[in-house]
Amino acid sequence: MPRMSQVVSIAHLTDVHLGPIDGFHARYWNLKRGAGYINWVRTRRDGHRREVLDRIVADMRAHRPDHIAVTGDLANIGLPQEHAGALAWLEGLGTPDRVTVVPGNHDIYSTIGRDAGTRRWARYMTSDAEGSQYDSGDDFPFVRLAGKVALIGVNSSVPTPVLLAYGRVGTGQLDRLDDVLRRLGDAGLFRLVLIHHPPLSGLANAARGLRDAKALEAVLARAGAELVIHGHNHRNMFAWHRHASGRMAIIGAPSASQAVQHGAEPPARYNIYRIDPAARAFELTGRGLAEDNGEVVELERQTVSLSAE
Ligand SMILES: [Fe+2]
Ligand SMILES: [Fe+2]
Repeated sequence: MPRMSQVVSIAHLTDVHLGPIDGFHARYWNLKRGAGYINWVRTRRDGHRREVLDRIVADMRAHRPDHIAVTGDLANIGLPQEHAGALAWLEGLGTPDRVTVVPGNHDIYSTIGRDAGTRRWARYMTSDAEGSQYDSGDDFPFVRLAGKVALIGVNSSVPTPVLLAYGRVGTGQLDRLDDVLRRLGDAGLFRLVLIHHPPLSGLANAARGLRDAKALEAVLARAGAELVIHGHNHRNMFAWHRHASGRMAIIGAPSASQAVQHGAEPPARYNIYRIDPAARAFELTGRGLAEDNGEVVELERQTVSLSAE
């Protein structure tokens, strides 16, 4: 890639689903959490392993990314102790100026009373000094700048009834996102959107997908973006989406903590983006476990141009 000095490297980790689940007190009990806890014990607890995540993080560190993006599902059933544990993990990952997070449906899971919930992570999910000139003053979307790359944090997570994992961006946030993307585009910045749920309709089923995916698709098409990264599906995903002046890449990563293949979900992986904003291009490197409980190796490398057809 040309002019390496302008290149910004961003590592993307998602769906780490940290365990164990502590602090499941009676006051947080409800059907949603009861079902979620049983599901976690039965099908998830042995799959998401801290030891695997630690190896993924060590490998990522060795690649010295400029910035780390985490797209939600740090927790499992949205308990205060899980949020506190996730904050400790984020602090171990890096300082708030180097790490950005957006919440997932397992973080904003069910009612939590007056507890601070994911607001414990506020330092990792608010605009920085440079980005705040582009945001709208609300919690989401927030904006952070890493060189000529603007990270735009969107919250797609809302409490949901039992067995459902859908998301919603909401009309207010959609309007603000439209405005923020336009302003960042006018400023010539490379727009990297972070969201937990896949942003296009058809990338997740009705029970798990964004309820307002069509509206988000329309905002992205009108206002434009260069790259959208997401989690939620625990799979490697790649889609294109057209906008007024080109196309954007929509890329989902598998869980970064999964020890073994789980149905269609592969073992742990993370992605590194080496973004050249001036060239409107990036190199995508996927690294992770090629086999159950395996070593962390390079799984994929490709150069993606947003200008070419
Ligand atoms: Fe997840
Ligand atoms: Fe999720």
